[in-house]
Amino acid sequence: MESNNFYSMPRIGDQAPDFEAVTTTGKIKFSDFAPGKWVVMFSHPADFTPVCTTELSGFAQRKGEFDDLNTELIGLSIDSIHSHLAWVNNVREKTGVYLSFPIIADLDMKVAKLYGMLQPNESETAAVRAVFFIDPTRKIRLIMYYPLNVGRNMDEILRVLDALQFSDAHKVAIPLNWKRGDKVIVPPPKTLQEMDDRIADTTCEKVDFYLAKKMLV
Ligand code: BEZ
Repeated sequence: MESNNFYSMPRIGDQAPDFEAVTTTGKIKFSDFAPGKWVVMFSHPADFTPVCTTELSGFAQRKGEFDDLNTELIGLSIDSIHSHLAWVNNVREKTGVYLSFPIIADLDMKVAKLYGMLQPNESETAAVRAVFFIDPTRKIRLIMYYPLNVGRNMDEILRVLDALQFSDAHKVAIPLNWKRGDKVIVPPPKTLQEMDDRIADTTCEKVDFYLAKKMLV
C-alpha cells in the first residue's frame, strides 16, 4: 500500500490526543487518567505472540521502576478485551508474570490511528511497536517506533524516561549513553558575555566553551 495521510502522526511537542477506550482494568478517558503523573503508552502487534509476550512481561517485571519515576503504563493492541484477558491469564499461569497495567482493546483501531501506531506499509491490521512518553501536562515528549519483527529494549525505555525527567528538573541536556550518575551537558552560552563566563568557569569539564559537562549531586 502507498503511504497516505489518513492516519494522524502525533509529533514530539504535541498535546497527546484525548480518547476513551475499553481496557483490561475498565474504561478510561485519557485526559482523566493518572493526573499529575507521566504516562508511557505502548502498542504491540498482537496478543499470544512471542515477542509481544516478552515485551509486555518486561514492562510488568520493571513496573516498580516506572512507579519510582511517577509513571503509569498503558498497553494497546488491535485485539478484543476477551483476547487480552485470556492472554494476561495465560502469561500469569505459564510464567507467574502478571500484566496488571491497563491494556486497551482497540478493535476499531481508533486509538492506533489517532497515535500513528497503525502504519499500513508495515501492517494494515496490527499496530507497530510504538512507545509514547507523555508528561504530566499531557505533552508528548518522546516517541519510539519499532517494526513488527524487532522487540524493544526495556533498559532504554527506562533510561530515556529518567533522562527526560532529569533534564526537566535540572534544566540540562543529556549526552550520548547517559545514565543516572553520569555527567550532564551544561547548556551552551547564548551571548558573548555568557561565552566569556563559560571560558572562565572552572567548575565544569570543558572540551570548549560550547561543550561543557558537569556532575550534578
Ligand atoms: C511477535 O510478537 O512475536 C510478533 C508479532 C507480530 C509479527 C511478528 C512477531
